[in-house]
Amino acid sequence: LLKSAIEEIKKSNDLNDIEKIRIKYLGKKGQLTLILREMGNLSKELRPIIGQKANEVRFEIERILDETKTKLEQQEKFEKIRIETIDITERRKVNYLGHKHPLLQTIKELEDLFISMGFNVVTGPEIETVENNFDMLNSPENHPSRDLSDTFYINDKLLLRTHTSPVQIRAMMKYNAPLKIISAGRTFRFDDVDDTHSPMFHQLEGLVVDENISMANLKYTLDIFIKELFGKDMKTRYRPHYFPFTEPSAEVDVTCVECRGEGCPHCNYTGWSMELLGCGMVHPKVLENCGIDSEKYTGFAFGMGVDRITMVKYGIKDIRLLFDNDNRFLEQF
Ligand code: PHE
Repeated sequence: LLKSAIEEIKKSNDLNDIEKIRIKYLGKKGQLTLILREMGNLSKELRPIIGQKANEVRFEIERILDETKTKLEQQEKFEKIRIETIDITERRKVNYLGHKHPLLQTIKELEDLFISMGFNVVTGPEIETVENNFDMLNSPENHPSRDLSDTFYINDKLLLRTHTSPVQIRAMMKYNAPLKIISAGRTFRFDDVDDTHSPMFHQLEGLVVDENISMANLKYTLDIFIKELFGKDMKTRYRPHYFPFTEPSAEVDVTCVECRGEGCPHCNYTGWSMELLGCGMVHPKVLENCGIDSEKYTGFAFGMGVDRITMVKYGIKDIRLLFDNDNRFLEQF
């Protein structure tokens, strides 16, 4: 009996089999149970001998059953773990989702930042009047930026805007003072293409007009903005400059993002990223041109190169990459 039980247990390979064998031998009507029940019919001499033997067999069967059961349970567990294991080297079918171009991402981020500081977002056309692009902005007739070599003229009245500053004019004409706006978009200049120049590029313009606006407000606003965009440890440097529509005017350099001011090849070991921004106090003539009382109101304005900011931010070394629309490049952002 013990032998056949052991044989059967050995052959069994799941927990159900084990349970069946248990019932077959040890259950209420099991083979061993029946033997134990018949004990009464045995002689007095045989009873203890057979009884002891039967119990030994019973224990042995129970022991082997338990042992096998634990073994099978272990196996089952391992099998389960094996099945549930994820093969991370397996190739997955990917559905490619589009996303915003890095330039648009930067514009969005800049807009959100300025909106959080209370600015309103406005837009202006890429085809502008010569008047808005130059005259209203106090660009004298003989200013070099009016030269044919810099500007794409459509005819003697229209051109592709050379900066986003004409949007200042449109905003002041439309809303008058007080005013707090930004405007981003495409701008065009007759430039030869190289790694830092493109005839089509992007600017973001800002304008604040109110009573008692000073250079301090300008610096405070731009400093906050630069720190938010690039990090708290960023510093700004204001260099005097000339723009016809602001007086005084400045160009702003920002701590080199690559070396955080230590000096590296990206910044020619100066520690500064150059000319990220142009800014200044709005020229009173420009305010008057738009019908704003320059005795009562003052304002500051700034304009930045979105392409340059994007390049500095993401470490892009060639502006042409932004306009090639090669997915292998764009996917990285
Ligand atoms: N429009 C200037 C440029 O194209 C930038 C600028 C904007 C400067 C506003 C001062 C104020 O370079």
